[in-house]
Amino acid sequence: MTDQTAADRQLEIHNLRVAPIAAPDREILKGINLVVGKGEVHAIMGPNGSGKTTLAYALMGHPAYVVTDGEVRWKGRDLLTLSADKRARLGLFLAFQYPTAIPGLSVASFIRSALNAKLQGVDKNPDIDPTDTIRGGVSMLEFRRKMREKMALLRMDESFASRYVNEGFSGGEKKRLEMLQMAVLEPEMAILDETDSGLDIDALRIVAEGVNAMLNPNLGVLLITHYQRLLNHITPDFVHVLAQGRIVKSGGRELALQLEAEGYGPILREAGLETTVSDDALRVPVEPAGVA
Ligand SMILES: Nc1ncnc2c1ncn2[C@@H]1O[C@H](COP(=O)(O)OP(=O)(O)OP(=O)(O)O)[C@@H](O)[C@H]1O
Ligand SMILES: [Mg+2]
Repeated sequence: MTDQTAADRQLEIHNLRVAPIAAPDREILKGINLVVGKGEVHAIMGPNGSGKTTLAYALMGHPAYVVTDGEVRWKGRDLLTLSADKRARLGLFLAFQYPTAIPGLSVASFIRSALNAKLQGVDKNPDIDPTDTIRGGVSMLEFRRKMREKMALLRMDESFASRYVNEGFSGGEKKRLEMLQMAVLEPEMAILDETDSGLDIDALRIVAEGVNAMLNPNLGVLLITHYQRLLNHITPDFVHVLAQGRIVKSGGRELALQLEAEGYGPILREAGLETTVSDDALRVPVEPAGVA
């Protein structure tokens, strides 16, 4: 489809059902419906084990999960039939949760090859060679200019570009790499999973500032998070509560405030879900543990 209508610029998740590949009959996601419109910021919150990370992984095409039903549309294509590489070439940014260390590969080279791959386009036009600056790649001069611009935007030290990817990176530095990569790639839809473990307040701040610096009418964001605190810094247009593999409630940003005040208990009961844990255990963490 070449027509660039508004529908082509929104992420549409229809009846998405997902199971672990090891147990395809034990569905984790039991029919997710969600539309993230062009330029909208949607937050997904939910108790532990509700399927938030599974949703992010399914959208990324993680090999440990199998989609048992449903469809995800983006730019007129069924996203789920595309390789992770093609998803990125189509302007989706899927933050990798735990990037592995790549010794000997600098941050700059890593981001440059990701940018060149994207410039090559989704169908890999044979006339374009992303390693050749004349036939489609970004020139070194242009790339350096872009990196400087984005590092200034994210208030990052320029020496970061020459570090090796993830080698000895702190949690915060991993988040910086993720934000810089996103800034340079200029995606139209970013799917971010700000999970529980290993995320300190510094890392949360980096994500919040990074996303806010990048927000523009052409960037849609699906922000998966545990922390109400993050939503004090990134104002979502919509908040969805995921519980037991389904979206049980959607609302505006006031829903996040309600969750902070009341926990998940009332919403789960309203949705007719049995809660075997106490309301206390269903409180929404305001910020990572260990913060004064
Ligand atoms: N690969 C897998 N194999 C088997 N079970 C899995 C797999 N991945 C997730 N699960 C199970 O699916 C459920 C949802 O997990 P998921 O990680 O998506 O939850 P979550 O909402 O991200 O939780 P948290 O808030 O703790 O990050 C959990 O019960 C989990 O144990
Ligand atoms: Mg998770």
